[in-house]
Amino acid sequence: MATDVGGSRTQAGRATWGSKIAFILAAAGSAVGLGNIWGFPTVAGQNGGAAFLLVYLGGVAFIGAPVMLAELILGRRTLRNPVGAFKALAPRSAWVMVGGLGVLTGVVILSFYTVIAGWTLAYILKTITGTFGAGADTAAIFADVAGNPVAAIGWHLAFMIITIAVVFGGVRDGIERWTKVLMPLLAVLLVLLAIRAVTLPGAGAGLEFYFKPDFSKVTGGVVLAAIGQAFFSLSLGMGAMITYGSYVSKKDDLVSSAAWVTAFDTSIAILAGLIIFPTLFYAGLEPGVGGAGMVFVVLTSLFGSIPPEPYGGVIFGTGFFLLLAIAALTSSVSLLEVTVAWLTDERKVPRHRAAIMLGGLAFLIAVPSALANGAVGWLSSLPVVGLDFLTFLFTIFGQYALVIGALFISLFVGWVWGISAAGEEVRVNDGKFPLGRTWAFLIRFVCPVAIVLILGQLIYSLIG
Ligand code: PHE
Repeated sequence: MATDVGGSRTQAGRATWGSKIAFILAAAGSAVGLGNIWGFPTVAGQNGGAAFLLVYLGGVAFIGAPVMLAELILGRRTLRNPVGAFKALAPRSAWVMVGGLGVLTGVVILSFYTVIAGWTLAYILKTITGTFGAGADTAAIFADVAGNPVAAIGWHLAFMIITIAVVFGGVRDGIERWTKVLMPLLAVLLVLLAIRAVTLPGAGAGLEFYFKPDFSKVTGGVVLAAIGQAFFSLSLGMGAMITYGSYVSKKDDLVSSAAWVTAFDTSIAILAGLIIFPTLFYAGLEPGVGGAGMVFVVLTSLFGSIPPEPYGGVIFGTGFFLLLAIAALTSSVSLLEVTVAWLTDERKVPRHRAAIMLGGLAFLIAVPSALANGAVGWLSSLPVVGLDFLTFLFTIFGQYALVIGALFISLFVGWVWGISAAGEEVRVNDGKFPLGRTWAFLIRFVCPVAIVLILGQLIYSLIG
C-alpha cells in the first residue's frame, strides 16, 4: 500500500511505466492527437502560417513546457490523479476544485473527441475502398458520415469501445503496450506522407506560406490562438500530465522527460503542416479553410489526383486517416485514464468497472455532439452562440477550461505549494534540476501573467 508522508508517497502499490522511454511515448501519445494533425495546420492556416508558427514555438517554450513540468511534478510527488494530487498537497482547501475541473474537462473532451475520431474510422474504410476518386463529391460524402445519425453514433461507439479496451489493460499492459506500437507507426506514416506532400508539383508555394513569416500578421488574436492551441496540443490544464506523471518511477528524470514530450509534440505538429500546406497549395486552395471542412472535405477532394495515379490517392488517403485515428486513440486513452484514475484512487472502484462507467458516460454526453454536424438542425447551429454543439463544447472545455486549469496549476505550484517542494521532487532521482531557476521564474511570473492576459483577451473577444 502507498503511504502518506507529507503528501509524498512511496511508490509501492502504484502502477509505474516500464521505462523512461515508455513514459515518454505514452505522454507523447497523449499530446499528439487530432490537435496536432488537424488542429495545428488549421489554426496556423487561419492565422498567417509562418508568423503563427513562430508565436506558437514561443508559447510552447515559455508557457507550455513549464506547465508540463509542473503537472508531471504534481503527479509524481503525490502518485495520484488530479483530484487526489490537490487533496494530498492542500488538504481541505478549495484547490481540489482545480482537480475536479480537470476530471470534468476530461470527460467532456473525451466525449466530442471520440466523435471526430469515429469519423476517421469511417474515412479509413472509405478511402481504402476508393470512394475518393477524381470528381468525388466530398461534401456529400462527409454529410453521409457526420450528418447521418446512425453512422455518426455507430462510428463514435466503435471508437469509444477501442479506447475503453486499451484503458482496460491498465498502465503497463494497456496504455504502455499500445503506445509503444502505435507511436513509432505514427511517426513512420507521418514522414512518408510528408515526403509525398512536399514533392507534389506546386508544393513550394505551400512551404513558403508555412516558413516565410509576415510579421504584419501577428495580432493579439494570433497570440491567443497560438497559446490556446499549445495547451490543447500538449494535453495541459486538465491533469492528463498529472495522471501520467503519477506513474513515473522516482528513478526517472522529469525535466528531460518534459522536454522530450514537448519536443515530440511540437515536431509532429510541424510535420503535419508539411503534409497539409503543400497539398492544399498543390490544388490551388486557400490554407484558411478550417475545421472539419479542411480535412474531411478539402483534403479528400485531392486524393483523386495524387500521383502516381490511380492508386496514389488511395495510399496517401488511407495512410492519412490511419494516422489520424492512431493519433486520436493514444489521446482519447489518456483522457479516459485521467477519469479512471480518479475513480479508482478516490472511490476505490475497480479499473474495469471505472473504464466502462466513464467511457459509457462520455459516450452518452457525446450524443448531441455526434448529431451536431448536420444530423439535427439546431445542434448544428446553436441559437445565440451560432456554433455547432461540438465546436461549442470544444470552445468551453478544449480552450477555456484548459487555460483556466493551467493558470491555477501554475499559481499553485509557483506560489502556494511552492517552488522548493517542487524542486525537491525533481531532484529526488539524481539531485539535479537543470534550468531550475529559469523554470521557477517562468512558472511564477511568465505563465500566470501570460495566461491572465490571454483570458482577458478571450473575454474581451466574447463581448467585443
Ligand atoms: N493533446 C491532444 C491533441 O492534441 C488532446 C488532449 C487534450 C488530450 C487534453 C488529453 C488532454 O489532440
